[in-house]
Amino acid sequence: MMKTLILMGSPRPMGNTAKMAEWLTESVKERDMEAETVYLNALSIKPCQACGVCHMPGMGECIVDDDMKEIYEKIKESDCIIFASPVYFFNLTAQIKTAIDRFYAFGPDYKKSFHGKKFGLLMSYGDDNLEVSGGKNAVASFNDMAAYLGVENLGVVHCQGYEPGELERNKDIKAKCEAMAMKI
Ligand SMILES: Cc1cc2nc3c(=O)[nH]c(=O)nc-3n(C[C@H](O)[C@H](O)[C@H](O)COP(=O)(O)O)c2cc1C
Repeated sequence: MMKTLILMGSPRPMGNTAKMAEWLTESVKERDMEAETVYLNALSIKPCQACGVCHMPGMGECIVDDDMKEIYEKIKESDCIIFASPVYFFNLTAQIKTAIDRFYAFGPDYKKSFHGKKFGLLMSYGDDNLEVSGGKNAVASFNDMAAYLGVENLGVVHCQGYEPGELERNKDIKAKCEAMAMKI
């Protein structure tokens, strides 16, 4: 069965990004596929220490003993990884960026590690649009990462909303989340 892992970078379980993840999850499950959301904010994940041990011959894994261990396993088991994040200070949140930096341990042969996987991005921001919010930087980072890791890029669903629930003012946003689920 196809497995989708949603890495949630918002600390707000009732927030705008969580709502997008919920819509995508419902749609994925309606198609008899699995979807799991992991709230990174609830985990203890240290930033990459650049020790380089993971890239040493014969190693292939991170030696930092923290909650990223369970994320590594979930990523290996997943066919699709959805990055879900608000825009914080013109980019993805620290919660999700910290986990992404730890992907270093999947290298140096990233394309082999991520072979056959799909990536998508769900993102919300408080300012008027993708340009002024800084969401454009997050989209550029996501696209560069997807290309570098050699995954299939399912694209980005982004929407405006500041307080929780405000994203629902965008009438087509639920349909866009469902459309991303269709691509999985
Ligand atoms: C620390 C912080 C930084 C933020 N920085 C930005 C920003 O740079 N651009 C923007 O448009 N919105 C910014 N916002 C607004 C959030 O992106 C917006 O409230 C978003 O909907 C939150 O998503 P959530 O409800 O899923 O937590 C910021 C919010 C916080 C708390």
